[in-house]
Amino acid sequence: VSSGDEKQLMGQEADGSQAEPASRSVGADVSLEDLVSLCKRRGFIYQGSEIYGGLAGTWDYGPLGSQLKRNIINEWLKFFVDGWDDMYQIDAAILMNKKVWEASGHASGFNDPMVECNNCHARLRQDHIENNKCPVCGKENEFSEPRQFNMMFKTNVGPVEDENSVSYLRPETAQGMFTNYKNVIDNFYPDLPFGLAQVGKAFRNEISPRDFVFRAREFEQMEVEYFVEPNKWEDSFEHWRKDVHAFLEKLGIDKEKVHELEVPDEDRAHYSKRTIDFEFDFPHGKAELLGLAYRTNFDLTNIQNATGKSMEYRPKDGSTPFVPHVIEPSFGVERLLMAVLTSAYSVDEQNGEQRTYLKLPLNMAPVKVAVFPLLKNKPELTEKAKEVYKMLKEEFNFVMWDDNGNIGKRYRRQDEIGTPYTVTIDFQSLEDNTVTVRSRDTTEQQRVEVQNLSGSIRS
Ligand code: GAP
Repeated sequence: VSSGDEKQLMGQEADGSQAEPASRSVGADVSLEDLVSLCKRRGFIYQGSEIYGGLAGTWDYGPLGSQLKRNIINEWLKFFVDGWDDMYQIDAAILMNKKVWEASGHASGFNDPMVECNNCHARLRQDHIENNKCPVCGKENEFSEPRQFNMMFKTNVGPVEDENSVSYLRPETAQGMFTNYKNVIDNFYPDLPFGLAQVGKAFRNEISPRDFVFRAREFEQMEVEYFVEPNKWEDSFEHWRKDVHAFLEKLGIDKEKVHELEVPDEDRAHYSKRTIDFEFDFPHGKAELLGLAYRTNFDLTNIQNATGKSMEYRPKDGSTPFVPHVIEPSFGVERLLMAVLTSAYSVDEQNGEQRTYLKLPLNMAPVKVAVFPLLKNKPELTEKAKEVYKMLKEEFNFVMWDDNGNIGKRYRRQDEIGTPYTVTIDFQSLEDNTVTVRSRDTTEQQRVEVQNLSGSIRS
């Protein structure tokens, strides 16, 4: 990737104007430039609409990036949905009735203060400006008066473009759960506490998308709305706080780089009475990875007021009905993906040469095993290697065939994408049915009998 491409990957607007530049890493193990470059070079993440010059704040996930996202989402579903008895997954529409956003406060309050640099005309988020200096052209004290900019993407539903047909792309998945709370109660009669969980796209017209996929205009959230009795929210909050840490460990995220920030009153979202931001030491600096919020009964009460329909929960013991309160853990898939890659990014020296590799845990690695025939022009070797490939694919699904270039190059490629094991089929394999298994982390090689291969890799 040329340095020009990298700049674009990190935040340049599609029309050639400058978005805020990506922050530089200070003392971080991996720079943002290195991460962007690896992601592009190895097929994880491409700039959205790249071939047409890009569309700022959008990203396309290549074969390995989509697989890594899928691994993160699967792990989340396993941990927070399958692992709980009282969790219900839903999949609500992205387009919602605009009344949803009026009741939730997003139509009037989902704003960021925007200023324009009078010198270079860059539009910037006022709270991103340090030292009163334009981060694009460097001029000082040259900003317009701030104006409130609503971040929801507006569209019209149906052929008539008027106020009645206005709708928005959802800026959070949360509201799909609040609007279906009553449906699930009526269909499933859950006991409190219970949760609704959802994974899906969210859209925000960010004034200055930046720092690679960290702040994008289209991204994916994994959220839970956990309904509790009003006087029991603190216990639930604590439970979730611990579970969030346990989940991050499952993804191989470096716990030394995770920090809790108790968000002060003046900085909390309008709906929250308590929020902990889980921050991470990203290559561009410490920033929010995910949030855990106590949303009180704000949303259900708003729905009740706006629709006239009761959102009360009727306890099965006949005691007085009430509107439940809500604990909301909210995860961004892309920020988790950046944290996973940052934690895994490693450099060492092998035979006097610097090696870059991703030390991903097996559950995160997009490719679990790669199979190499030593030489690609020897049919007896490729035939045997295909047999081994087929066998491993049945067991691990994500197995890569690579017969391109010398073995050293193939190892380097697999190390860089985080493949934990590579299996080479050589001439000895034809004689004694053994293959060489190489471990990514130690680079040690072992001969293993083909019939013991899957078990050996698993263990
Ligand atoms: N329902 C609550 C909610 O949406 P939020 O703090 O605005 O809360 C939750 O967003 C998470 O979504 C963030 O912690 C982050 O992981 C992710 N997120 C938010 N805006 C994002 C953006 N522009 N690009 C990428 N991820 C974003």
